[in-house]
Amino acid sequence: MIQIENGVFALSGENYSYIFKLLCNKPVHVYYGPYIPACDPSVLATRCMRSFSPYHPIGGGDQSISLDTLPLEYGERGRGDYRTPALTAETDGDATTDFFYTGHTVSSVHPTADGLPTLRGGETLTVTLQDQTGNTLDLYYTVYPQALVRRARLTAAVPTRVTKLSSLSLDLPETYTVTGLFGRHVDERNIDSMPLTNGSYTVSSTRGTSSHQQNPFLALSQNADETHGLVYGVNLVYSGSFDITAAVDSFASTRVVAGYNTDTFTEVLQPAQSLTSPECVLAVSDCGFGGLSRSLHDLYRDYLIPEKYARAPRPIVINSWEGCYFDFDTDKLLGMIKGVKGLGIDMFVLDDGWFGNRNGDDSGLGDWYVNTEKLRGGLKPIIDATHAAGMRFGLWFEPEMISEDSDLYRRHPDYVLRTARTPVLSRKQMVLDFSKPEVVDNVYAQMEAVLSAYEIDYIKWDLNRHITDIPDLHTQHGFVLGTYALARRLTERFPDLFMEGCSGGGGRFDAGMLAFFPQIWTSDNTDAVARTRIQYGTSLAYPLSAMSNHVSICPNHQTGRTTPFETRAAIAYFGAFGYEFNPSLLTNAERDAIREQTAAYRKYQDLYLSGDLYRLKNPFAGNAFCFQVTSKDRALSRITYMQTLCVANAPFDRIYPQGLDDADYHIEELDVTLPAQAIMRHGIAVNLSGDFAAKTLTLRHA
Ligand code: DGJ
Repeated sequence: MIQIENGVFALSGENYSYIFKLLCNKPVHVYYGPYIPACDPSVLATRCMRSFSPYHPIGGGDQSISLDTLPLEYGERGRGDYRTPALTAETDGDATTDFFYTGHTVSSVHPTADGLPTLRGGETLTVTLQDQTGNTLDLYYTVYPQALVRRARLTAAVPTRVTKLSSLSLDLPETYTVTGLFGRHVDERNIDSMPLTNGSYTVSSTRGTSSHQQNPFLALSQNADETHGLVYGVNLVYSGSFDITAAVDSFASTRVVAGYNTDTFTEVLQPAQSLTSPECVLAVSDCGFGGLSRSLHDLYRDYLIPEKYARAPRPIVINSWEGCYFDFDTDKLLGMIKGVKGLGIDMFVLDDGWFGNRNGDDSGLGDWYVNTEKLRGGLKPIIDATHAAGMRFGLWFEPEMISEDSDLYRRHPDYVLRTARTPVLSRKQMVLDFSKPEVVDNVYAQMEAVLSAYEIDYIKWDLNRHITDIPDLHTQHGFVLGTYALARRLTERFPDLFMEGCSGGGGRFDAGMLAFFPQIWTSDNTDAVARTRIQYGTSLAYPLSAMSNHVSICPNHQTGRTTPFETRAAIAYFGAFGYEFNPSLLTNAERDAIREQTAAYRKYQDLYLSGDLYRLKNPFAGNAFCFQVTSKDRALSRITYMQTLCVANAPFDRIYPQGLDDADYHIEELDVTLPAQAIMRHGIAVNLSGDFAAKTLTLRHA
């Protein structure tokens, strides 16, 4: 809801309020937190003059009107605010900006964003500000039940060099503990938490993609755990280089600024041209991190992930990668397809290696036509066999890349993202300059030809290196826009095509990709123990339905660890489920187990894809992992507990379920019925035998 009265703008959703007001025509922040009625509580906060904080002429000599100390809706450079700016722009002879309110509109039409992905729907308040140069700045606030989404747009009246245009700045009144998600390839989204002190903390990427290294998500909390305490979440809807900074000033207030990474970004605007920042989600919870995550999960499933697929059943996949890597031909693939027939698998996905002269990772990228030397008769016999085995067919692409040894490179060396220097290689490949429309057109035409020639229901879109060799500070962002343009074009041309995102596993796991890709390959690490941590960290911001998880063969290819087959499935159920191995290596017992697992996933997938997640045990903090997912109507709940190492003669561990409603529940595996309050307060004792052992409990309304 958006309520505006006497220059006070009160925005609210189901559990939050966000209030700002005009002070001398500057939008100043009043309140963001758990819901309060629309009002102006800023009368409870006094202002005072601070030495060395310059007072602005708008105050008519009132020395407390300083941009350095007012909580501002959008921090600027050069007029007395020395905190982290949201905007830095330069016009002829002037490196300062000073924007003032000129008007606002409210609309239920979601504003477009110049090729950037956006959430759908919501009600949007646009506050328009103007600078004396004539440049205008629109601040957008889109209100959803679960969260607020902000972004900004700068339109030039005079030539303007923009070095920073953030999605938001937010001035909060206190200091907080900051939590970010960091990692590396095969170890994504670990959780880092620390108290903010004076100075700033930044999570960022300069890699041209959101990256394995740091995710575009940050939380600020006070005395919070999974169930208690105030937590703010900030999550950018962007897949390129970003930064999110939380900075504490000398009066113990915290400013959060989020947007494009400024080390890799500059745009020059000519009169009438404009620049838009990505959308940034702001969510708040007063019941800890669990509440924050559930709000974000619902927001993304309701308003971001393609509507058609957000909650739709996902195909159970068998992916060829760990089963054969590059080493396959038609016969081997036919053997794999035959090998999984009747196991309850829905989709055979042919991974890397089917195209051009791609026999290893040093060639072929950019040549999206079938390698008929390897695949005798092309894809048709494989697709026919897949259909005959009762499955649909999916195919791997890496659209943004090019190998030096490729026809595309031989024809178009000019398509490579480069400067006059020799390009830097990574995984023996170079990057296509997706900021050029003709490059995107070429890749689109090649993909379109394959996708229209064959019955392909699913693609896995990979990206296996990060960006280097940018000719200017405009190109990295242009590259990201090219990626979005290709994804948009493909989904418009093939509306039934299901796309899974991937970047060497979870290197581009962000809300920007989720606008096109209902699910993302969470990590190249398929080890169940490592996955408990990766999936736990990922779930801080992203719903289970977005996480693609596969059961693979042990010893695990990434860690060398052997975990029980049931444990691998129990952990992979928490998302979009699948397999990844050569079926000829399966024992009969494993084949039987797969039949049971695919049936179980099918039975419960609606719960996993649309339910509420409660994180009961944190694998980063102890020897166990435990997730509980409860249906929206609370009638069904499943809990999976996994212990890492078995301890001899160990004390019982206890699971305290959450979020059950006031009813009796039957716990199927224990065959007991008890009131929910008893189950939640008494807890369920567990004592498992064996390393990596897992146990799943199913609770239903009695
Ligand atoms: C990285 C992906 O994450 C893997 O699953 C696989 O598709 C390889 N790339 C193929 O090169």
